[in-house]
Amino acid sequence: MPSVNNHLDKVGKGFADFLTPPLEHVIRFTVGQPDFPTPDSIKSKVVEALDAGKTTYTRTGGSPELCKSVSRFLNERFSITVDWENIVVTPGCKQAILYALMGLGNPGEEVLLLAPAWPTYDAQISLLGMTPVHVPCTTPDFHPDFDALEKAITEKTKFILINSPNNPTGAVYTPDEVVAIVDLAIRHDLWILDDMIYATMVWTEHPYVSPATIPGGAERTITIGGWSKSWAMTGWRLGFCAGPPAAAKALHLCQTSAATHVPTFTMDAAAFALFADDDRMPMHNAFKERREVIFTELSNIPQLKVRKPEGAFYIIIDIEGTGMDDKTFARRALEEADVQLIPASLMPGGEGFCRISYATNIPNIIEGCKRLREWLERVC
Ligand SMILES: Cc1ncc(COP(=O)(O)O)c(C=O)c1O
Repeated sequence: MPSVNNHLDKVGKGFADFLTPPLEHVIRFTVGQPDFPTPDSIKSKVVEALDAGKTTYTRTGGSPELCKSVSRFLNERFSITVDWENIVVTPGCKQAILYALMGLGNPGEEVLLLAPAWPTYDAQISLLGMTPVHVPCTTPDFHPDFDALEKAITEKTKFILINSPNNPTGAVYTPDEVVAIVDLAIRHDLWILDDMIYATMVWTEHPYVSPATIPGGAERTITIGGWSKSWAMTGWRLGFCAGPPAAAKALHLCQTSAATHVPTFTMDAAAFALFADDDRMPMHNAFKERREVIFTELSNIPQLKVRKPEGAFYIIIDIEGTGMDDKTFARRALEEADVQLIPASLMPGGEGFCRISYATNIPNIIEGCKRLREWLERVC
């Protein structure tokens, strides 16, 4: 039999073992997708586009109207200046990350990840024959450890990949930290891949800050985002990447070679969604409220240590006080408490922690935390 890609054996299973849909009575704190439907106003734009015959091939990066909307959104919301022609709308943020790695990296090069990091990064980097270098963040706040980052750099380091607000930790890097990331990237001539998919979901005083807004940052930053989380559009598979002209040329070429473009009839809806704040804000406010509720509920469990998450819809819990390792904790929580969560040691640097997604309603959050509290009272 012919052989398969010889990097495949380096690709892990991510969260798969702990994401299996459980029985209905189990409280699922695992799924990283909004529990809301896509707002009707956004959906109706697809119907209009189909009726208008927008079913043919079109521009690789996305329609000019869509790319101009992304450019305006990035500028108005986050002060990022990027020409609309340097934006590529992709099949999900995931594919945008892949294009950035494929278009700018070479096999053998190294990518710095701030650990624990979303497992897809690891898989994509490994598939492309590059090496993920997991640099643990400081605990318990999971912010960048600059001494450790500095020490991890070799002559093969090509990228630093950041994700703030962060999955799995909920950390939002401070403006000073973003300045320091840009400084590091300039000194070592690195690309910065900025996965800012959760950038509208910030619960701290300090906002999300883009490295592209820091002097020297724009020419080495690829801004990567998407519609999945903020607009409850996970199944639409819509994301984007944007960068300086030479990088954008590479991103366009990847898309031309891989997907041509995203479905033409989704483009008007995507452009509309970016400014549909009346529809987005109720979901945003719900996550903000759930963050308060889950933090309060988990704080009442003496065996766990928690910090208030700074952004996104994840909270990371320190389970060391239970005497269990995180995989045992997650397995037993499912079997004995009917609560499903993700052991963070599935990501290097996450040992001793579990990730909870609070993309579920408040009664579920209260019930799930009650089950964990009663279970730990029994077994600890
Ligand atoms: C950090 C991060 N980036 C990207 C994605 C994927 O986004 P998309 O659905 O646009 O591919 C996720 C989804 O869980 C994520 O957590």
